[in-house]
Amino acid sequence: MTFLFNSDARRGAVFAEAFAEELPDIPFTTNAATVDPDAVRYLITWTAPEDLARYRNLEILFSIGAGVDQFRLDRVPEQVKIVRTIEEGIVRMMQEYATLAVLALHRSLPGYLAQQRAGEWRDIPQLQAASRRIGVLGLGQLGQAVLDRLKPFGFPLAGWSRSPRRIEGVTCHDGRHGLQEMLAASDILVCLLPLTEETRGFLDAELFAKLPEGAALVHAGRGPELDHEALVAALDSGRLSAAMIDVTDPEPLPSGHPFWSHPKIILTPHVASVTQPATAARAVIDNIKRHRAGLDPIGLVDRSRGY
Ligand code: NAP
Ligand code: GLV
Repeated sequence: MTFLFNSDARRGAVFAEAFAEELPDIPFTTNAATVDPDAVRYLITWTAPEDLARYRNLEILFSIGAGVDQFRLDRVPEQVKIVRTIEEGIVRMMQEYATLAVLALHRSLPGYLAQQRAGEWRDIPQLQAASRRIGVLGLGQLGQAVLDRLKPFGFPLAGWSRSPRRIEGVTCHDGRHGLQEMLAASDILVCLLPLTEETRGFLDAELFAKLPEGAALVHAGRGPELDHEALVAALDSGRLSAAMIDVTDPEPLPSGHPFWSHPKIILTPHVASVTQPATAARAVIDNIKRHRAGLDPIGLVDRSRGY
């Protein structure tokens, strides 16, 4: 029974140490070339290797990130559990990023950066937080954590998910009708949806048209959820006022792409939140213990939903 770690050496060293302490009976390796494939019961990786089928006794395929869209779920044998990483480092960093982005857009940072480049000293009319409505697409572990972190600022908060949810201090919406309602009342829209066939291309011209005139967008879900051309058109026409974008399609963004130089876009290179090895190792170890005790791992992916 072996745990195969397929990611960078720095994180591998942290995982190896945690496994030696907590699960000493499970051999730990980072070497796919020398491991006996039949011994591998657990594999953690970002993308699933082409030769996944060689691990005939695999029980859990862990994604080293919070998302699993990088896996071809239909190529993972039915009996293998697919588990994403839910750990406090990812959550905390996404709370920081979303707060940074919401405050930057709320306080007109893209406008002030443009004025600085133009040598202009001029104030931009400012709304109070109580008048700036925030809508979050996705009320999973990240969407909920972000809303929680935004509470003390006093923004009216709303969120949207597939199934109905109740969150104190947040107006919760679900389904198609709920989406229309939330979009119409979102001055800053934050996307934290997983990439599935339903959410591919979700942030498009039709959706932007349902937001209040001059609304702003934060996108930290997945690149293919956003129609790049539609965003540029919405910003150029003034339908949207600004955007902070962390994920694009493709990544890295090719040179010459309009997002690099658009004055109303703040761009970051998919760094909103990054798996932290010490806390992630703990979460994976806890999940193996749960699995061995006959419990479902936390972060178990529902293949029929795709997340
Ligand atoms: P999660 O816990 O699985 O939550 C996903 C949320 O999206 C749920 O509330 C779900 O609704 C909702 N949802 C999914 N499909 C929907 C649909 N078609 N219509 C309406 N709601 C839908 O995921 P998470 O841990 O919060 O992570 C979300 C995503 O963030 C990840 O999948 C990843 O793509 C992205 N991410 C980005 C970074 C970065 O650095 N940029 C880092 C980590 C993660 P239900 O509640 O009804 O299931
Ligand atoms: C990063 O994007 C992740 O999915 O953890």
